[in-house]
Amino acid sequence: MRRLNLALGERSYPILIGGGLLSRGDLILPFLRTPRIALVSNTAVAPLYLDVVVKALEGVGVGVTPIILPDGEAYKTWESLNLIYDALLANRCDRSTTIMALGGGVIGDLAGFAAATYQRGVPFIQMPTTLLSQVDSSVGGKTGINHPRGKNMVGAFWQPKLVLADTDTLKTLPDRELSAGMAEVIKYGLIRDLPFLSWLEAAMDGLLARDGDLLAHAIERSCANKAEVVAADEYETAAAGGRALLNLGHTFGHAIETGMGYGEWLHGEAVSAGMMMAVELSRRLGWLSGADVDRVRAVLQRAGLPVKGASLGAERYLELMSHDKKVIAGSLRLVLLKALGDAVTYADAPREDIVAAIEACCRE
Ligand code: NAD
Ligand code: GLY
Repeated sequence: MRRLNLALGERSYPILIGGGLLSRGDLILPFLRTPRIALVSNTAVAPLYLDVVVKALEGVGVGVTPIILPDGEAYKTWESLNLIYDALLANRCDRSTTIMALGGGVIGDLAGFAAATYQRGVPFIQMPTTLLSQVDSSVGGKTGINHPRGKNMVGAFWQPKLVLADTDTLKTLPDRELSAGMAEVIKYGLIRDLPFLSWLEAAMDGLLARDGDLLAHAIERSCANKAEVVAADEYETAAAGGRALLNLGHTFGHAIETGMGYGEWLHGEAVSAGMMMAVELSRRLGWLSGADVDRVRAVLQRAGLPVKGASLGAERYLELMSHDKKVIAGSLRLVLLKALGDAVTYADAPREDIVAAIEACCRE
């Protein structure tokens, strides 16, 4: 088992990564205020893993209330959140009950927001089961739901007490979902860890073949990068750089997800095409070479990811991007690359260059 720590003072927490962790109730017990867990999962993950988790928890004396939601990004909504609140109240869950998420980023974001808000906040544990959630969404405390006008527009920062990533769960993950998670892994290389990008280029075939050691290394290195960034700028308030850099490609990508309808493009797929737009814009600003752009395109394609954007039209992209959470006083801040491995936030990209980058990536 690999162990990392997210250093946030008294709210610090461990990130445990390894095989067989779903059945380790003993690892969870010390993090509970009382031996009571509301376990939030969905109709795709629960049939695979609910029993093993419930058995492990009951084995150490923990009572479990399962809450099973419909599956999919289209259900990251107020309605699903209300299903969680209804079940918590119906089962008389109190302030000492821990909410635990068993599933991908959708379940993690929903359960985390429920934990942040139920009775003004209850303890929360993340048990991520997709590559994307193991390398990104389970770490760092961003929780929330989508609004028809924009991705993740309603939510809260609420840190978990523990992240427990069982790499065995990746064996049942569909290939398309594995690739989607790889987009966020590649992101860390592009924004701040060039040696990791080179490692990923060399290891990609083994990663896609689900080599356990390679996956565990990729997850650990991704979480180490994320933990460092979040520890330095938990609430994404840094004037420059900081946590916002984790959003490379996301402003363009969120426009694709919202514009196409939630669930049409997977989050990681939209981030992949969005990263190509950010990289192409960085080239137009003179920061990256054509060879750099080709290198990024090649690694994304090898990971099985789209590099061509959705044909929404540049005007629609800009309209959707104007709702981005990085907009300050009407000014759009984009995450761009000064060089591969060196990201910045930048508010001065000329509109015509943004449009040209979008159009170039929708043509290719
Ligand atoms: P997801 O939660 O929809 O999971 C993908 C699919 O895989 C779902 O159908 C799910 O039920 C299924 N699944 C999950 N685990 C499985 C397993 N082990 N075997 C088989 N199937 C399994 O999608 P995701 O990619 O995990 O997460 C995307 C979401 O995460 C988006 O809503 C995105 O906005 C959010 N996100 C949040 C953060 C954050 O910091 N909070 C960061 C990145 C992304
Ligand atoms: N996924 C971006 C963040 O956690 O800040």
